[in-house]
Amino acid sequence: MIQLDNVSKRYRRKQVLDPFSLTIQEGSSIGIIGPNGAGKSTFLKLIASLEKPSKGALSYEGQPYKQVVKRVRSAIGYVPQDIALYEELTVGQQIAFWKKLEKTKVDDDFLKRMVETLRLDEVMDQPVGQLSGGWKRKVNLCVGLLKNPSICLLDEPTAGVDLAAKEDIIAWLKELHQQGKTLLYISHDWYELRKLSDEYLLFAEKRPVFQGTETALIRQKEELLQSFDEQKDLRRILQHL
Ligand SMILES: Nc1ncnc2c1ncn2[C@@H]1O[C@H](COP(=O)(O)OP(=O)(O)O)[C@@H](O)[C@H]1O
Ligand SMILES: [Mg+2]
Repeated sequence: MIQLDNVSKRYRRKQVLDPFSLTIQEGSSIGIIGPNGAGKSTFLKLIASLEKPSKGALSYEGQPYKQVVKRVRSAIGYVPQDIALYEELTVGQQIAFWKKLEKTKVDDDFLKRMVETLRLDEVMDQPVGQLSGGWKRKVNLCVGLLKNPSICLLDEPTAGVDLAAKEDIIAWLKELHQQGKTLLYISHDWYELRKLSDEYLLFAEKRPVFQGTETALIRQKEELLQSFDEQKDLRRILQHL
């Protein structure tokens, strides 16, 4: 379980996340949605301990992050929104490179299953720079999850990918959830959110404004829209429910 207690984030003069508290239960699959700039990526970075909160605190299994940062980092796999790959390396070389950098031993059965489900064996010998966006995203996902993490944080893992690649990614994330892992992923696509989430986290105006099931979100929809009347973006998001 991860808890965020009165957490907020500011970069210099810019407030990015207003104070909020929430709990992430082990084994849950949480779809994160919200307008651009609402603070979703920053939220994931705080959980990944890539950023520190300006105020408030996070805890992992009841222990303050500060005291268990090593355990937190080894439990968490983080897949960034921006693709961070070496274009000149082939997919196989890329995986081998990142595998070597992992502090803990990579589970080969897990890696094999991931490569298979994402169908990366088809492009193993191709330089990453020559692949289409969808394939690059799949490689990015693969190297981000190499350590077989129990908590997977995914920042728009399907952004800009074709439908076939999207289905492969959804299939793999579903499998991870079935393995009992905790999943948090940001997406703008209800189709995929519905396939994967058992809970939604909606961000608006620098904080999470809703956490719960789709039924609960539908029930609160009008109330949410009324409290953010100027949020055209939010209306655009919630109209699909
Ligand atoms: N390192 C940073 N320094 C300054 N501002 C930042 C930084 N990272 C994000 N921001 C700002 O914080 C706000 C929220 O960003 P982000 O968390 O990326 O939102 P989202 O993922 O919901 O689109 C944006 O206005 C963004 O410009
Ligand atoms: Mg973002």
